[in-house]
Amino acid sequence: MNFVSPLKLPVAFETGISSIDQEHKGLIAYLNGYLASCEHSTISNFDELFTAFISELEHHFESEEMIMQEAGYPGLEKHARHHQHCLDELRRLLERCRSRGYAGTGDVITFFQKIIDDVSKADLRFVDYLMAEDKMTEFKAR
Ligand SMILES: [Fe+2]
Ligand SMILES: [Fe+2]
Repeated sequence: MNFVSPLKLPVAFETGISSIDQEHKGLIAYLNGYLASCEHSTISNFDELFTAFISELEHHFESEEMIMQEAGYPGLEKHARHHQHCLDELRRLLERCRSRGYAGTGDVITFFQKIIDDVSKADLRFVDYLMAEDKMTEFKAR
């Protein structure tokens, strides 16, 4: 897949649940900020930025899991494992950046791919569940 700057959440990947979509867009906006601040393809204060981003992503995952719990979503446990796996991978990526002493645009793209991955492989399944259970109206304004 080719990535163009600014990075964007494809319309087809919008869940229709207001807070979740806003959070996805907010996370992607941070990544665009990192790309914009790149000098010679590297991000000078990557440690601080990526640490803050991972914690922001963790909050997003927590709020998603709360909504899923409220909706009685049977796939919650699997989804939460997916979230954990994603955070572990990004923490390992940050470690790799630390050991090589720099982060570049490619690392920001990896963060983006992880968000897209969770939306496409997991978040949209939750939406399918809400639709099938006729619960979308109840949750779309969340
Ligand atoms: Fe999400
Ligand atoms: Fe998710």
